[in-house]
Amino acid sequence: MACIIVTGTPGTGKTDIAKEVAKKLKLKYIDANDVIKKEELRGKYDEKRDTYEVDENKLAKAMVKLIKKEKNIVIDSHMSHFIPKKYVDLCIVTKCKIPELRKRMGKRGYTPLKIKENIDAELFDVCFNEAYEFGHDLLVIDTTNKKAKDIVKKLF
Ligand SMILES: Nc1ncnc2c1ncn2[C@@H]1O[C@H](COP(=O)(O)OP(=O)(O)O)[C@@H](O)[C@H]1O
Ligand SMILES: [Mg+2]
Repeated sequence: MACIIVTGTPGTGKTDIAKEVAKKLKLKYIDANDVIKKEELRGKYDEKRDTYEVDENKLAKAMVKLIKKEKNIVIDSHMSHFIPKKYVDLCIVTKCKIPELRKRMGKRGYTPLKIKENIDAELFDVCFNEAYEFGHDLLVIDTTNKKAKDIVKKLF
């Protein structure tokens, strides 16, 4: 059984890296958003923050079910690090330098408040720190420039 999770602030390149790792190691790529929709884990819509509330414990439970079923997977989600350590072999944290991250989020049409919140989360390394506290084995990949995918090709 192999499970790699990819966490990080939105826009830091999780999806890019997770797909590359899945391709390289021949693991199944799982987008947590699909699971959230399928299992109806979406909570209330927070208009001010332009985001849906998702219970991280419920999501972690659904993910554990999936890990047991699929066996060899890469999970892409900024909440994937809430999956208990015993089910996870490696937690990749994607990071991106702030000016580039701001540009990426602008392109996505995020609201100014959503951009500010996510920039703060990146500055404070929220995903990294939570993943660290959860006891995961961590690998940090900086995706600010295009070489990030080459690192995956070389390392995995
Ligand atoms: N290494 C990189 N170099 C340049 N652009 C990147 C890189 N990784 C991701 N991007 C771009 O940044 C944006 C966000 O990447 P994405 O993988 O969707 O992030 P996330 O899944 O964390 O929200 C996308 O437009 C993607 O093409
Ligand atoms: Mg993504």
